[in-house]
Formats: sequence, structure tokens, C-alpha cells
Amino acid sequence: MKSIQSNIKKAKDYLDKNHCVAVPTETVYGLAGNAYSNMSVKKIFNLKKRPKNNPLIVHYLDVNKLKDDCHIDDNFIKLYNHFSPGPITFILKLKKDSKISKFVTNKQTSLAVRFPKHPLFRKLLKVLDYPLAAPSANISTRLSSVKASDVIEEFGSKIKYVLDGGRCQIGVESTIINLLSKPTILRFGGLGISKIENILKKKVLIKTNSKKKIAPGQFPLHYSPGIPLRINAKKPKKNEALVLIKKRKTTFKNYYYLSKNNNLQQSAKNLYTILRKIKKDGYKKIAVEKIQNKGIGKTINDRLSRASKY
Ligand code: TXA
Ligand code: MG
Repeated sequence: MKSIQSNIKKAKDYLDKNHCVAVPTETVYGLAGNAYSNMSVKKIFNLKKRPKNNPLIVHYLDVNKLKDDCHIDDNFIKLYNHFSPGPITFILKLKKDSKISKFVTNKQTSLAVRFPKHPLFRKLLKVLDYPLAAPSANISTRLSSVKASDVIEEFGSKIKYVLDGGRCQIGVESTIINLLSKPTILRFGGLGISKIENILKKKVLIKTNSKKKIAPGQFPLHYSPGIPLRINAKKPKKNEALVLIKKRKTTFKNYYYLSKNNNLQQSAKNLYTILRKIKKDGYKKIAVEKIQNKGIGKTINDRLSRASKY
């Protein structure tokens, strides 16, 4: 308990001085900085080597704090009441007098906002006077981090502090929904689309591959383990590791399991860890067996198909 408090204090001290700190969320680790500070936000972009026109998600404790920065509407309130805190990000209209750094949004008039569920992150947000801008804690286009050690692998000593909250429960990023006009999904993520539709009582539009690339998480190359990846594979080829989601009769050294019983939730949780491990184990290529395209399986397939563009 004492160490939790002292870790929160350490994170706060760095953030108050405009440094970046890695934080645990229920989806993936974030690389956080004060969203009201130009200096902090610029540091995030530099550390991640992220293009300046790719806006960041801002994390709030709750809707009360959000009201200083964004306009909200009925769709937002319905979804917020059901799913926040949790793995959903909302695109909302920024208020004219908001204090959000212009570097967060690349001067756009909309803002991506999220209310994270991880208890440690929530404790941190409670002691801060500002929301946290936090993209996934990885170098741009690479795999997101789901453990403190992944973050260190990505950034080494370049970041001041990692608030270690253990392994991320969901393991893939949040679902992004644009609420500026007709509700539109911009990124598949930890929350299934049908759950969102049940609450809104209507179908949502899906634009996860828009030509306009409003959400640059839509760029074709993304979530890459850094070696070629092939999807819908039945058998591995020479030098390939094979990623499986259900148990095979015979298994070989080059077989890696996301789950042994076709469990999609567990597979999502293991996805980035297994892809990182395969690369570390020295394989030059990855093949992945076909994964059911339903629920969070859609998110897994989205990430794998982008990773396969390497
Ligand atoms: O689960 C998550 O969402 C994690 C954790 C740390 O919260 N964060 C995350 O952030 O995945 P990031 O930066 O890796 O992905 C955010 C995506 C990017 O694709 C970005 O282009 C999009 O959100 N985005 C941010 N602001 C936007 C806006 N105003 N309109 C449309 N898309 C936006
Ligand atoms: Mg990311």
C-alpha cells in the first residue's frame, strides 16, 4: 500500500515537471504527459517518433473533469454511463476555451477522450490537476506494450519512469467511436461493436479503413512486430513460427499458442506478448492461423492484417 502511494507520488512529481511517464491501462500501456502543457506533449511525439499530424487520446478520471474541455451529447452520455471507465475512446467537439495543448490535436477542433479503468491509473488521475495525453507506449508503427518490461524494451532509459501496474487485462487498444456526426467506429478495439449498438439502439457506421485517414491508427502499416507476418495460414513454412488459437494434436517447437481452446478474449490478451516473443526467439517470419471474425476476434484480425503489410 505504502509503495503504491510512493509510486503514484513519483509519477506525479515527474508529470508536474513536464516529463513523460508510462502508465498502465486495462488495454495497453500509455506514454503519458500533461495534456495542458505544450512541452509535455511535444516530448511524447518525440519519444514515440510519431508524425505531428497524428492526434493523441486524452485520459480523464470522469465526465466532470471532461466538461472543461469538450462538448457532450446524448449518445456520449449513454455510452459513457455503460462503458466508462473502460476500453472505449470518444471523438468529441473541443470547446473553444479548452486548455488542451494545440499539439495534442494538431490544431483540429475535435478531441479523442477516454476514461481508463486500471485502478493505478485512476489513482494517479485523482491527484493531478490536469488530464493526461497518452498514446500507446511504443515507437510509432510498432507493437503496443502490455507489460512494464515491454515499455522498457521500446524506450530504454529515455523515459523517466514506468508506473508498473502488471500485465494489461485486455491487451489490445480501445475501440474508437466518432460522435461528431452519425456514430462511426474508427478503430476496432477492446469493446465489441454489438455492445455499443445495443446501448445506442441503432447500427453504427464502420470506417476503420477510411481513405481520409482521420484516425491514423488506420494507416495500413501499424502494430508491426518488425518481421513479416502472414495471416490465415494452415502450416508454417521454413523459418516461420506458427501462431495458433486452438490445440493441435502434434505440436512443434515453432508453435505458439494465443489460446488452446479458441478463446478470443484470451487470445487478444496474449497477442502482442506472443508476437514480441517470437521475434525475440529469433524467428524471421510469422504465420498465424485463421481467427474467427467476431467480437474481439475482429480487433485481433484488424491488428494482424495491418501487421501483415510489413
Ligand atoms: O487503449 C488505448 O486507446 C490506448 C491507451 C494508452 O489508452 N491508447 C492508444 O493511443 O491506443 P494511440 O495514440 O496509440 O492511438 C490513438 C488513435 C490514433 O490512431 C489517433 O489517430 C486516433 O486515436 N485519434 C486521436 N485523436 C483523434 C481525433 N481527434 N479524431 C480521430 N482520431 C483520433
Ligand atoms: Mg498506438
